[in-house]
Amino acid sequence: MKKIEDDNRIVSSGEKDEDKSFDLSLRPKNLKEYIGQKKIKENLEIFMQAALKRKEPIEHLLLYGPPGLGKTTLAYIIANEMSVNIKVTSGPVIEKTGDLAAILTNLQERDILFIDEIHRLNKTIEEILYPAMEDYALDIIIGQGPSARTLRLDLPKFTIIGATTRIGLISSPLRDRFGDTYHLNFYNNKEVEKIVARSADILNIETEEKAVSEIAKRSRKTPRVANRLLKRVRDFAEVKFDGIITEAVSRHSLNALEVDELGLDEVDRRILQVIIEKFNGGPIGVNTLAAATFEETRTIEEIYEPFLMQIGFLHRTPQGRVATEAAYEHLGVKFAKKLF
Ligand SMILES: Nc1ncnc2c1ncn2[C@@H]1O[C@H](COP(=O)(O)OP(=O)(O)O)[C@@H](O)[C@H]1O
Ligand SMILES: [Mg+2]
Repeated sequence: MKKIEDDNRIVSSGEKDEDKSFDLSLRPKNLKEYIGQKKIKENLEIFMQAALKRKEPIEHLLLYGPPGLGKTTLAYIIANEMSVNIKVTSGPVIEKTGDLAAILTNLQERDILFIDEIHRLNKTIEEILYPAMEDYALDIIIGQGPSARTLRLDLPKFTIIGATTRIGLISSPLRDRFGDTYHLNFYNNKEVEKIVARSADILNIETEEKAVSEIAKRSRKTPRVANRLLKRVRDFAEVKFDGIITEAVSRHSLNALEVDELGLDEVDRRILQVIIEKFNGGPIGVNTLAAATFEETRTIEEIYEPFLMQIGFLHRTPQGRVATEAAYEHLGVKFAKKLF
């Protein structure tokens, strides 16, 4: 299956290879450096301190929200703040029960196991997780047929941090085993500006204040996109200008990259155009929308829609997707009020 992160859009919030080394230097290492998500940070601070005092692992945590908002970063920060090891894996990577058993038995007391895309774990693997999370026990079956028996192994007391973009796809028995669930929200403009300024600082890029807000404005309220746009604008500044990111340089570069004033790119506009022009504003089912825009349903649901809904351009209704008046306006199409 194609990984949805593999798309080529520059405003994609999914992780790309080019982000990896770049991300590493920009990734906040502790809660203080982590910008925004105030409520989550406050809660975490308390839970972590309490667990540290008791010398216990923190409760299993589920993080959810659209790609690029800082789930993986948060997991690493927690491990760092708790001074424990973090082992990183993901739902689709754990294929056999033996894979999970090997991971679990290699953990040490209070270690963190980070399972990304946890909604994509298969059922059999999930069932091994239940006793592991609840009782720190691993049940393995020895032998086959009538002589088969189960052996229960004790596991160290550890913490699972699960991350997902699709909370609705997680089975309720799995969800119930998490002590807490944190919903990561899109960032406001001020927060994204702080992130851009911080990154520019780390990368030693000279920027004008107005350029920072121009980049922030077009970053889809998403840190990963903000860092990527900053990097692209830096390339322009170095090759076509004198290296300094001024407001004019940032405008010029972002326009050249076809990222519009709101951070929408060609695909977002295509999605809205299809709904508006071909389906009279909707409602239109997501599968039809996918077919008409040549995108995958999952990509539309996980990457494009959350942002389009966040800025009030798209509504999900039981009948399907509907474009709002604001979307018409943005595309410069006259909004004809429909009689439902
Ligand atoms: N709260 C934040 N403050 C500063 N930078 C952030 C924050 N959240 C994310 N980032 C930046 O965005 C990048 C992507 O975040 P990541 O944790 O990989 O997102 P997710 O796992 O939710 O897809 C990180 O490498 C980091 O540089
Ligand atoms: Mg991640």
